[in-house]
Amino acid sequence: MKRLLSCLMLFWAVGMQAQVADFRIIPFPKSLTTDTTKVFNLASGMGIAYDASDPEMSRNAQFLREWVEQLTGIQLKMTPDDKKAAIRMRLGITAKGKKSKKEKEVALTEQQQEAYAVTVNKQGILLEGRKHVGLFRAAQTLRKALPVLEVPANGAAPTVAFPYTNIQDEPRFCYRGAMLDCARHFFAMDVIKQYIDVLALHGCNQLHWHLTEDQGWRFEVKALPELAKKGSVRKQTVVGRNSGVYDGQPYGGYYTQEQCREIVNYAAQRYINIIPEIDLPGHMLSALHVYPNLGCTGGPYEVWPIWGVSRDVLCAGNPQTMDFLKTVLGELCDVFPSKFIHIGGDECPKERWKNCPKCQAKAKELGLTENGKHSIENQLQTYINHEVEKFLNERGRDLIGWDETLEGGLTPGAIVMSWRGINGGIEAARQHHRVIMTPTTYCYIDYYQLKDQWGQPLAIGGYLPASKVYSFEPLVPEELTEEEQQYILGAQVNLWTEYVAYPEHVFYMLLPRLDAISEVQWCRSDQKDFKSFKTRLPRLQQLYDRLGINYCRAIE
Ligand code: ACM
Ligand code: ZN
Repeated sequence: MKRLLSCLMLFWAVGMQAQVADFRIIPFPKSLTTDTTKVFNLASGMGIAYDASDPEMSRNAQFLREWVEQLTGIQLKMTPDDKKAAIRMRLGITAKGKKSKKEKEVALTEQQQEAYAVTVNKQGILLEGRKHVGLFRAAQTLRKALPVLEVPANGAAPTVAFPYTNIQDEPRFCYRGAMLDCARHFFAMDVIKQYIDVLALHGCNQLHWHLTEDQGWRFEVKALPELAKKGSVRKQTVVGRNSGVYDGQPYGGYYTQEQCREIVNYAAQRYINIIPEIDLPGHMLSALHVYPNLGCTGGPYEVWPIWGVSRDVLCAGNPQTMDFLKTVLGELCDVFPSKFIHIGGDECPKERWKNCPKCQAKAKELGLTENGKHSIENQLQTYINHEVEKFLNERGRDLIGWDETLEGGLTPGAIVMSWRGINGGIEAARQHHRVIMTPTTYCYIDYYQLKDQWGQPLAIGGYLPASKVYSFEPLVPEELTEEEQQYILGAQVNLWTEYVAYPEHVFYMLLPRLDAISEVQWCRSDQKDFKSFKTRLPRLQQLYDRLGINYCRAIE
């Protein structure tokens, strides 16, 4: 009977030109209760109340106003002090009654600090956030619940019917990220901003920005003006997968420090931290092209026009190498306030170091010996990491490295990004180092996402459908004790761009696999259900259509 009534209510609402909001969003909230027999109707002319003396809340209220209009055509008024406004935003979570004593006394986890609540009842829609970030997430939840409306042909005013609802939500993991490689291909500022918008829509809080590579240096260093100017440009690019055929077109681009700051601020307003990566000591041909004295052989080197792993890397025995790195990282820290700084560390072949007198002299000076566990050259990389870590720590930053940083022994506070499977992450967590899980098997979204590769743009290879991404469990409970699991901060997808040159392609690779990882990052594992996820995706894809964001239409 109740079901029949709720169906009748919905037909009635639709008949009255109203469309219905649906809070079964992506990522799915921790707790959601809905009574579809009762609705609150939102229409143009109604207000959003917020604290106008609070600039951060005002900004979030403004975001919400814009989002509602963009998706539904409903024009809300900004009515800061109206206690009876249709939408009310406020700090603090009181939906379950008074703030509990426990909440006041116990230090909150990062996830709890992001908590928010949404209540819909006859008074309207109440959005509450424990902090501003929670209010932003509450506003995003309301945005995603909205139907995407066409302007009615008969000029009727649009209305959205919100079923009575209570949501109490917070994320599962504190680190919820995505990486974008802007070094293999360079993407303009508006693309980075749209990437950030899409991450924020999914509750992500970290953009790992890969800024340097063999194929191009993209970060301006003021003390080394030639570095970005010359190091950002490759003479040409190989066609396809190292085919031996070249396009003959110079390719370049870099971000000025002013632009980087603009990105940092844009992201911060959307509660996303930018983690910049300077990949060292390998993947450095673009820098070696400008400063050949920093390589073991002295060069000459060119900004690489092909893909892969170069044998030429920074010389570990040349004191100028460390001066160079400190200059670069010093300016990087000035521009990016992130607590985490990524120093790469992946794919650094050691053959140049083995044959370099300067590198071997350095190993001797450091007293490095083959110890059965770590080779001399791997320990030499750890020496570089350690120097860099001390430098970063002095500036209040923590070092993140790819899992190769385990090979010569981890430096004291290093955070490990586990990409060659999950074993690096497991080993690091057992050593009580913090870990971000991003294994190729679940998180490399440069792989194909559909089995039938015909008709898809060329990709690096592999096969990673959204369903596989969705199935990822970052805590690996079969391998790690509960205590060790505490070291797993979260998960991230990585978009390498050797074969991704255009913005439409970026978003085609990202979506719907970011949708999938967002439930890995946000939802408890017992809440995840791929079938349910697929039924919830179309509404979000209507939002992408309205915003002009490309995505892969098929899902496997
Ligand atoms: C990597 O994919 N080389 C970290
Ligand atoms: Zn050397």
